[in-house]
Amino acid sequence: MQNPWTEDLAWQAQRGLELGSGLCACEGHYHTLWGSLRIAGINNTMKGETPHLTEMMAPFLRDGMRVMIGGAADPGVLCGIGRIFSPRMPVFTVIDKCKAPLALIGEFAASRGIACRLLHMDLLDLDGSEQWDQIVLHYTADFMSASVRSRLFRSVAASLAPGGTLVCATMTGASECARLRNRRLRRCSSMKSAV
Ligand SMILES: C[S@@+](CC[C@H](N)C(=O)[O-])C[C@H]1O[C@@H](n2cnc3c(N)ncnc32)[C@H](O)[C@@H]1O
Repeated sequence: MQNPWTEDLAWQAQRGLELGSGLCACEGHYHTLWGSLRIAGINNTMKGETPHLTEMMAPFLRDGMRVMIGGAADPGVLCGIGRIFSPRMPVFTVIDKCKAPLALIGEFAASRGIACRLLHMDLLDLDGSEQWDQIVLHYTADFMSASVRSRLFRSVAASLAPGGTLVCATMTGASECARLRNRRLRRCSSMKSAV
C-alpha cells in the first residue's frame, strides 16, 4: 500500500499550475509556480528542520489530535507533519487565504484517504470559536508584514485548546543562529567557571 505521506512532486507541479492559473491571484503567481520551483529544487518545504521538529513534537503527539496547519503552499507541510505523527493519525485542518493550495491539498488528501478539512480564510480573523490541540505555522509569519504579527499570535493563541501546542518555524538567518549559539556557549562557560 502507498505511504499516504509520500508526495508526488511531478503531479503537484502540473496540477498546481492548472489550479493556480484559475484560482491564485497572489503576488508573483505564488501558488501557480510553487510546485514547479519545488520539483526544480529551487524551493523546499520542510528543509532540514524535520529532525528538530520530530524531537520537539514527540512529547505532544496523540492519536486523533486536532491539528491545524496555518498557511500551506501545497501538500508539503501536511505530509511532513503527517510523517512526524505516523503511525498516529491526527485530524487535520488546513487554512489558507488562497483557494489554489487548498484545492490542490484537497485533491491530494482525497487521493490518499487522508481526513483533512480545508478552510479558506485569513488567519488574522481566527477568533477562538474553533480550537485545535496543535497549530503549525511553517514560515507563515515570515510572509506577513511585521505590523500584523502580534495580531496573528493573538488569533492563534485564542484558537489553541487548553494545553494545546503551537509549532512555529520562522526564518532566523545565519547571523541570528550564530548569536544564539554564542550566547549558549557563553552561558556554558560561565556555568563551568561558577562550579
Ligand atoms: C510561506 S507560504 C508556505 C508555508 C509553508 N512553508 C509551505 O511550504 O507550504 C505561506 C502560506 O501562507 C498563506 N498565508 C499568508 N498569509 C496568510 C493569512 N493571513 N491567512 C491565511 N493564509 C495566509 C499563503 O497564502 C501561503 O500559502
